[in-house]
Amino acid sequence: MVVYARFDAATRVGDSVYNAVMPKLGVNIDHVATVRQARRTDEPDPVWAAMEAQLGGADCITFHLREDRRHIIDRDVPLLKEAVVTKLNMEMAIAPEIVKIAIQNRPTQCTLVPEKREEVTTEGGLDVVRLGSRIVEVVKQLRGAGIICSAYIEPDVAQIEASKAAGFEAIELWTGGYANAKTPNERDATLKRLKDGLAVGQRCGLEVHAGHGLTYRNVGPVAAVPGFSEFNIGHSIIARAVFVGLREAVREMKRLLDMAG
Ligand code: PXP
Repeated sequence: MVVYARFDAATRVGDSVYNAVMPKLGVNIDHVATVRQARRTDEPDPVWAAMEAQLGGADCITFHLREDRRHIIDRDVPLLKEAVVTKLNMEMAIAPEIVKIAIQNRPTQCTLVPEKREEVTTEGGLDVVRLGSRIVEVVKQLRGAGIICSAYIEPDVAQIEASKAAGFEAIELWTGGYANAKTPNERDATLKRLKDGLAVGQRCGLEVHAGHGLTYRNVGPVAAVPGFSEFNIGHSIIARAVFVGLREAVREMKRLLDMAG
């Protein structure tokens, strides 16, 4: 109960001044579930991870219910909904079975992502332009259930404008290109694409988030760009947590975001 009271207060503070200037940190807990599923046992529990991340200062808990259930499983979803008192962000494909689970559990936000069974992690953004009316229908269903809809896309003008037209309230720009850049020139070019994408998103009236491949080492320049309202970071934080604990790992990432902003 003490924990709940504490986060109610934090959320109220966040809703006023703090959120206006500071980007939110969404902590992706999938990799905790990956360790659990490696043995098909009940530990470590991603729901416990969500609590620890919130105690470390996470503003949002992000999870991805994949169609193959390789990490997060159905049992986790209602428990996360119960335990998370900050923002709950569910990443998902537009498969009807997954849409149904989202509507039943009503996370704060659904981020629609592309999903391929053979991929190790989400690779690139959703093709909102190509998916057209299929996306529009899913967004309508989710928004009808009171869920904020975000599109995980590449920083491409056509995709951003199509996301706005499809009814999304937010976009998450794929930072994988930036994270994978091999040279300073490539990194500068990918960072510029992100900045341009942010400007287009803002012009369209969208909230702009960013994520994928961000680490303690590379987050600084992206976090220093004013305007991103949420960063979703998973692997690097969970990897660091193995050594320092999740609460501390989240605190350290929050500190980097604060310093960059
Ligand atoms: N945002 C989205 C939409 C993702 O699919 C992922 C990966 O699950 C992340 C952020 C987090 O990526 P990473 O684990 O590389 O930090």
